[in-house]
Amino acid sequence: MKILVTGAAGFMGSYVVDSLIARGDCEVFAVDDLSGGFERNINPESHFEKLDLRDREKTRALIEKVKPELLYHLAADASEGRSQFTPVSATERNFLAYMYTLVPAIQHGLKRVILTSSMSVYGAGSVPFSEDMKPAPEDIYGISKTAMEEATMVLSKVHGFEYVIVRPHNVYGPRQNLSDPYRNVIGIFINCLLNDKNFYIYGDGNQNRAFTYIDDFNPHFVACGFADNVVGEIINLGPSEEHTINELAKIVLSNFYSDGNIPAHLVPKHVPLRPQEVVEAYCTNDKAKKLLGYKTSTTLSLGVAKMIAWAKSMGSQKFKYLENGLELDSPQAPETWKQQLI
Ligand SMILES: NC(=O)c1ccc[n+]([C@@H]2O[C@H](COP(=O)([O-])OP(=O)(O)OC[C@H]3O[C@@H](n4cnc5c(N)ncnc54)[C@H](O)[C@@H]3O)[C@@H](O)[C@H]2O)c1
Repeated sequence: MKILVTGAAGFMGSYVVDSLIARGDCEVFAVDDLSGGFERNINPESHFEKLDLRDREKTRALIEKVKPELLYHLAADASEGRSQFTPVSATERNFLAYMYTLVPAIQHGLKRVILTSSMSVYGAGSVPFSEDMKPAPEDIYGISKTAMEEATMVLSKVHGFEYVIVRPHNVYGPRQNLSDPYRNVIGIFINCLLNDKNFYIYGDGNQNRAFTYIDDFNPHFVACGFADNVVGEIINLGPSEEHTINELAKIVLSNFYSDGNIPAHLVPKHVPLRPQEVVEAYCTNDKAKKLLGYKTSTTLSLGVAKMIAWAKSMGSQKFKYLENGLELDSPQAPETWKQQLI
């Protein structure tokens, strides 16, 4: 089977490619424009092409050449908090790039798409979010993911391909981009410590989140391409155990300084919540348990320890702010970005 993975040099996409190659029964094509991914993540046994999916003609040509039967779509501008300040990027890299990929894929024999959506589609609904709740996104990223979900369902109904929509939440682990100051809270905290800097917590830190270690996510996500019982389903994929950001901060600090000697200057600082940031955001996972046999095997403390070990082996990274700045560089943008405090 020919499989195309987009976002293949990114964090989650690179694990998908590795797992598909390890199966040994498929030919894996991989694309990424390296805007957020890294060459080091690219599996050499995949057929990799550096491609910006916003380039409609080149994307069409690649799909025509590959004719993928199965598509794992992960490419995205996944910066939820920044999306209010970069709405064009979120729309182009998420919704538009997906349409540029999906449409020729349908024309060339696509059998199934696995769409990486997000918990952001639930917005500020009542927690825990369950799949039967109507999407009510609070931010531009969530709007783009909702549109991608809806378009998938409509096009599937009309054109007959299968789909599985997966809603991950706060996936973390080795290979995650440590140098992005806009997203990946665990990576930001760790990279700040690697740089001997204190980190910032938006709001009072009592907002609740569930965090998913990559090894608890990836096998179930990959299985969505092959299992029969998940076709046409929307699935929350991740743990149901929630933690506050303050708890997370303590876990990161205590694992980073496992001898207990946390330097006094590394006390986290609190700054205002980012605009549209949802305070309570975690999901049920009954459906993932039932359909995919989901099980949380890695506690947050263990997963953070593993990520810290990897990050220490990588060394401190310089945070990379957008070269051309925000699309909407307004007073509402967090000071952490405006003053490049992270
Ligand atoms: N990590 C999480 O916690 C999380 C949670 C929910 C949903 N998701 C979704 O999962 C997917 C993967 O996320 P990730 O955390 O691995 O992020 P990531 O940034 O590591 O991976 C995304 C990849 O997409 C690539 N990309 C972006 N725009 C592109 C374009 N126009 N053409 C080609 N490639 C492009 C980037 O270079 C990057 O390698 C995304 O769709 C994201 O929205 C992630």
